[in-house]
Order: sequence, then C-alpha cells, then structure tokens
Amino acid sequence: MQKLLIRGPTRLRGTIPASGAKNAALPILAACLLCDEEIELRNVPAVRDIRTMLQLLEHLGVENERLGDAVILRPTGRVSPDEAPYELVKTMRASVLVLGPLLARRGHARVSLPGGCAIGVRPIDLHLTGLEALGAAVELEHGYVETRAGQLEGARFRFPQPTVGGTENLLMAACLARGTTVLENCAREPEIVDLARFLVAMGAGIEGAGEDTITIEGRDRLGGARHSVISDRIQDGTYLIAGVLTRGDVTVEGARPADLAPLLEKLDEIGARVDVGEEHIRVRHEGAIKPRGVVTEPFPGFPTDLQAQYMTLMTQADGVSTVSETVFENRFQHVPELVRMGADIHIDGTYARVHGPSALSGTSVMATDLRASACLVLAGLVAEGETFVHRIYHLDRGYEQMESKLQQLGARVERVD
Ligand code: UD1
Repeated sequence: MQKLLIRGPTRLRGTIPASGAKNAALPILAACLLCDEEIELRNVPAVRDIRTMLQLLEHLGVENERLGDAVILRPTGRVSPDEAPYELVKTMRASVLVLGPLLARRGHARVSLPGGCAIGVRPIDLHLTGLEALGAAVELEHGYVETRAGQLEGARFRFPQPTVGGTENLLMAACLARGTTVLENCAREPEIVDLARFLVAMGAGIEGAGEDTITIEGRDRLGGARHSVISDRIQDGTYLIAGVLTRGDVTVEGARPADLAPLLEKLDEIGARVDVGEEHIRVRHEGAIKPRGVVTEPFPGFPTDLQAQYMTLMTQADGVSTVSETVFENRFQHVPELVRMGADIHIDGTYARVHGPSALSGTSVMATDLRASACLVLAGLVAEGETFVHRIYHLDRGYEQMESKLQQLGARVERVD
C-alpha cells in the first residue's frame, strides 16, 4: 500500500493552480442521467471519487471520454439497470446522488444504502422523505432503497435541517416533476449553486439556488449542455492553511474568495496577511500565530471539511483555541494521530481544546478519512523529521496531485510503496 513521506519542517512558497471541485462535479455528473444528449464538462478533477461516479454512470448506460480536464458524457440508449450496487456505493457515499435523477427520468431507482462511514452515521432519511413529498413510493429492503413514481409531482417541502446531498437530490428530481416545487431550508453551499447553473444550462427552471428557498418549475425534458465546474474551496483552503502554518507565502490561482470567506476571515484574525484578487488568493505569514476558535456550520459558516486542517494550524498557535464540530458527530479521528506527533489536544464530545504551540515530530500516522488525511500531511510539513502518512487512498479520493502541488511549493514530499 502506498504512503506519503514528508520531510519537515518546510516553509511553503509559490503559486499553484486550483483544481475543479469534486463535490460540485459529483452531483453534476449524476445530473447527466436527466437527459439523453451529449454533455461536456470542463475542470473535472482527476480524483478517485470522480472515477467511481464515472464507473457508476457507465453501469447506468452513460459512456464517458476524458480529454485533459474535460469529460464528455454520452448516453448510449442501451437498456441498463436503474441500480447503484453496493460495490460502488460502499466506496463512495455520493453514489446516492443518482437516486433523484434516475427516479425522475426512469420512474424507478434502486440504490444501496450507504450505511455509516468513518465520520458518523450519515443517514439519507431526508433525501427519502423529500422524494416521497414529490410523490415517490419508497421501500427499504435487503440493504437497498427502492423508489418508484409514475410522474413526480411538484410540491412544497421543508428540510428539517440543511443537507447538501439531500438538497441536490431533490433539486435534480424536481426539474422533471410536473408543476412547481418549492424547497425550504435548503443547504446553500457553492456546489449547489454550481449544480443549479448546470441544470439551467440543460433547460431547467430554477430560482434561488444558494438561498434558503429554491423554486423549481418542472420541465418535460432537459437537453445536453456544456459547463465548467467551479474550483474546489476545500483543496484550495487546505493549501492556504498550509501556507500560514509553515510561515510561508502561498498563492492559489483560480481560487474563489467568496466561497472561502469563512476561512479567510479566520486567517486574517490569526494574523496572516490575506490578499484577494478576483480569481486568486495569496496568504503570507511570519511570526506568531494567534489562537482563534472555530465552530463548523453549514455554508456560509466555517466548513466541516476544513476543520481537521485548521486544527493542525492551531497546534502551532500561541495559546489555547477551541474547535467545535456541529455537522458530524464523529469527526475528530485525526486527533489521536496529531497527539502522537506531539500535539496537545483534549476532546470532550464534539468539542476540542487545542493548546499550542507544540513542537511536532515526525512518525508513522494513519489516515482515517479524506480530510483527516490532509491534516496529517499538513502536520508533517511542520514536524521535525520524517512523517509517513499511511492509507492515502483516502487522500486520493479528493485531492488532485497533492504531492506534486506541495512539491511545487517547495515541500519535500514523496509517494512511497
Ligand atoms: C456533503 C459533502 C461533504 C461535507 C458535507 C457537509 C459531498 C459529496 N459531500 O456531504 O464533503 O462534509 O456535505 O458540508 O458533497 N443528514 C441526515 N439525514 C439526511 C442527510 C443528512 O441526518 O438525509 C445529516 C448528516 O448525517 C450530517 C448533516 O445532516 O450530520 C449534514 O450532512 P449533508 O449536508 O447531507 O452532507 P453530505 O451531503 O453527505
């Protein structure tokens, strides 16, 4: 199995390009099931979750061709199953995003239940009650969810709490429902806005994406489209945190400042210099890092997907900071590994106190999930000596060429067997 070897400490300096957003590309790829015409997507990151989704689409009758950062998708028209099997869903929870489009277009969908994952239970009950509100019949049997509907009917549905995947599934399904659908208490993440832009390019009638209430006018059919995926705020944010952490000077070209506002405000508060252009972000830092707490929240709050990386940064702050995780119930699995590297962190439920600054030292650490892996790589950049991050298949799910980007910034990082 491959691992990453990081030799620290390093000071990162330089410019790297942003990558396309995995979490925007995944629902957009699922939305290709809503039509039978060719679709061209650009800025699609070459990461493992995207390959899994392309595999799932092939299984469902949509072929793909990769040309650089673009992917062309062509529905084959051949008879194919309306099913996302366990083998694919177990490796990527976002496979449940085919549920809404399949149901809306083919009247039937059978998707393996994703079950628990490393960061918490993560049910899909809200996706299902939302689809029921549009007239679908839902059954759970043999570990699969099976949904049927003759013709989905527009309806008013209020999410009891915001859910990113749930909002995306309902948004896609409602595009082919009869009449008007009003979704309330929606998630407002930039990835949802990007999905809506793509659906509108396919001919959908959508207003309010990025706001609390989204209104969708159902259409009889959607057509082919071309679309460029937004850049990945989580990957970009990870490199910006790394820049401050290593007291370096890092610019990400193509990053979207508005999507990263909650992080940039924090970096500014802790004393970093943050320069923002229309399409780039530069951070610089020297000297002490001020301790500042974060509370993770749905967008526009501080993203849970940057919590672990931010915690690594706080291990180097001058004083005590707190990290409160409100989105997932089990998202501190990186903490024991950071502690093994010398960090001083105490957990109480979903609340952590970080005492800094700690002199970190390199050792072998185990990645447990995607973002936890990234925080351990960052820790390796400031640790004395060699850090081996094991199980980097988690990292490869969502970071595009992480080691080569870090090398471009001057880090001594390599992938070893
Ligand atoms: C998406 C992101 C993930 C990010 C998360 C929160 C993708 C592919 N993944 O995940 O990287 O960490 O948003 O920003 O875009 N919940 C329920 N019932 C449901 C659905 C959700 O209880 O039916 C709960 C979840 O357990 C969690 C919370 O709602 O506690 C938020 O989850 P959700 O926004 O749905 O996250 P995902 O779409 O799974």
